[in-house]
Amino acid sequence: MLKLFVTGGAGFIGSAFIRLALAARPDCQVINFDALTYAGNPDNLTGLDAERHCFVHGDIANRDQVLAALPDDTDALINFAAESHVDRSIVSADEFLRTNVLGTQVLLDVARARGIRRFVHISTDEVMGSLPEDENAFFTEASPFAPNSPYAASKAAAEHLVRAAHHTHGLDTITTRCGNNYGPRQFPEKLIPLFIANALADEPVPVYGDGRNVRDWIYVDDHCRAILLALEKGESGATYNIGARNERRNLEVVESLLRALDKPASLIRYVKDRPGHDRRYAIDPTKIEMELGWQPQETWESGLKKTIQWYADNPEWIARARSGAYREYYARQYGVEVSAR
Ligand code: NAD
Ligand code: DAU
Repeated sequence: MLKLFVTGGAGFIGSAFIRLALAARPDCQVINFDALTYAGNPDNLTGLDAERHCFVHGDIANRDQVLAALPDDTDALINFAAESHVDRSIVSADEFLRTNVLGTQVLLDVARARGIRRFVHISTDEVMGSLPEDENAFFTEASPFAPNSPYAASKAAAEHLVRAAHHTHGLDTITTRCGNNYGPRQFPEKLIPLFIANALADEPVPVYGDGRNVRDWIYVDDHCRAILLALEKGESGATYNIGARNERRNLEVVESLLRALDKPASLIRYVKDRPGHDRRYAIDPTKIEMELGWQPQETWESGLKKTIQWYADNPEWIARARSGAYREYYARQYGVEVSAR
């Protein structure tokens, strides 16, 4: 039996990871510990095997709640829980420090106290800052830390705490650093689901700055397969960069989405740039490819097709995600109302 304790499992990547782990490992059981913030969505958990998946509502920064929920026969704790949106961290960093930094330390402490065999921490390429627009520069595991947004700084701090827990206390840790994920069930504040949801409703899509920023995109299930592999085969204390060698300028992404949805380019609106906007991310995944034999399974074309199809098939999911507090967020962030569709 493989007993996993997944934090943030009601979010985009955590819920995809739970689906994948339950499907790929018939002997796997998951406790899903999630605070259900605005980004945590019970709709993301529909259809999971109730015999092998147990949801616990709790906050990773609350030591008593984590102590009460984490059994000492857990094989691995996988920490997805985080405040994850750069734009929100620019407005206020408080929750980013509480969850991403303090919450990670609470999990490390409790994992150690409970004797959990392995601690897998899900980090991001953003801890390494921004690359020049030079095709030969890539993030490797040895790249220096240079976080530029409060979100990235909080994730960098969390990584340092994970490293310290390994070095000082001998906790068995793995850290993964991935680039931009896309796929089903991503909250529509991030570029791809936001633009699909807007375009499906024939609303403008807001492109920051000149639209020439580069992101390195990966289909969410490919990221999750890499995490499962690192969890099972990774070297204790190691960091693994995860990327699909798929750099795209934002404008290219937007044009592909509009074309696939048969929507006009006239929906594109250039809006004020994000403060401190990182120019380029690009990951060198050689280490995980060579050491663990990981390879992405989706191409950009196949992943985007599946993603667009999922949102087109799930208008109720989009409508619920875009209701309530989202409408206030959208008006504050973009200065316009989002439609009810
Ligand atoms: P998300 O925002 O979709 O989900 C985050 C989840 O964490 C939500 O379910 C939320 O309810 C939960 N959560 C937040 N605060 C919590 C707390 N205090 N206690 C318990 N649960 C809490 O995020 P995501 O896109 O799925 O990202 C998951 C992880 O992967 C994050 O750590 C993020 O930094 C990292 N990451 C994301 C990407 C990406 O492209 N989305 C890329 C690389 C790394
Ligand atoms: O690289 C990994 C990171 O990718 C993760 O750690 C973060 O959790 C995740 O949010 C993502 O960060 P980004 O800031 O790159 O993602 P976002 O979808 O917010 O933006 C992608 C690009 O699109 C970025 O250059 C900003 C631009 N953008 C974004 C939004 C929301 C726009 O042009 N318009 C928008 O409305």
